Amino acid sequence: MDLLETMQNRRSVRSYTGEKIAKEKLDKILQAGLLSASGRSRKPWEFVVVQEKETLEKLSHCRVGAAKMLENAGCAILIFANPEKTDVWVEDCSIVMSNMHLMADSLGLGSCWIQGRLREAENGESTEVYCRKLLNVPEKYVLEAILSVGILKEHPKAHTLEELEKEKVHYETY
Ligand SMILES: Cc1cc2nc3c(=O)[nH]c(=O)nc-3n(C[C@H](O)[C@H](O)[C@H](O)COP(=O)(O)O)c2cc1C
Repeated sequence: MDLLETMQNRRSVRSYTGEKIAKEKLDKILQAGLLSASGRSRKPWEFVVVQEKETLEKLSHCRVGAAKMLENAGCAILIFANPEKTDVWVEDCSIVMSNMHLMADSLGLGSCWIQGRLREAENGESTEVYCRKLLNVPEKYVLEAILSVGILKEHPKAHTLEELEKEKVHYETY
């Protein structure tokens, strides 16, 4: 599959079998994240990989109704950042998320971006504070997002090139 086909095939998958992710595949997803570009190459990120079932269940409450899939995920990868390192940590960490999501799909795994920044947990705390406390993350780190990864039950249909909103592209002037 070439890269454009891989990108067409990438979908958000929220339904998993509950099985574990093979170490070789997990390592490749993490490598894809760690290879990401970052402003001035500051690499402000820290990754927390959660595979224990009990912790994944607790993590599924980190958002109101948007992180349920973590109950059955094989793992969750949380991306935290040190904002003192750079003022473009949101951009940097978004690239990490995107690269990992794409790699997971290309390996035949299901994955989904779970928004962490600016969101609330079921207990009323911010998603960031909830995750930081649960995973013993030092206070100086802020949460970007969580990637849920699982063995998929069914892959949704690939995107097609025909459905692309080509009118969003403006040449030379708006
Ligand atoms: C910044 C961002 C935040 C997202 N947050 C969530 C989320 O909290 N929970 C969720 O289930 N999906 C989340 N998604 C996945 C989107 O809903 C999904 O990408 C969109 O519906 C398009 O579907 P596709 O990824 O299959 O093309 C998020 C995606 C992005 C890029």
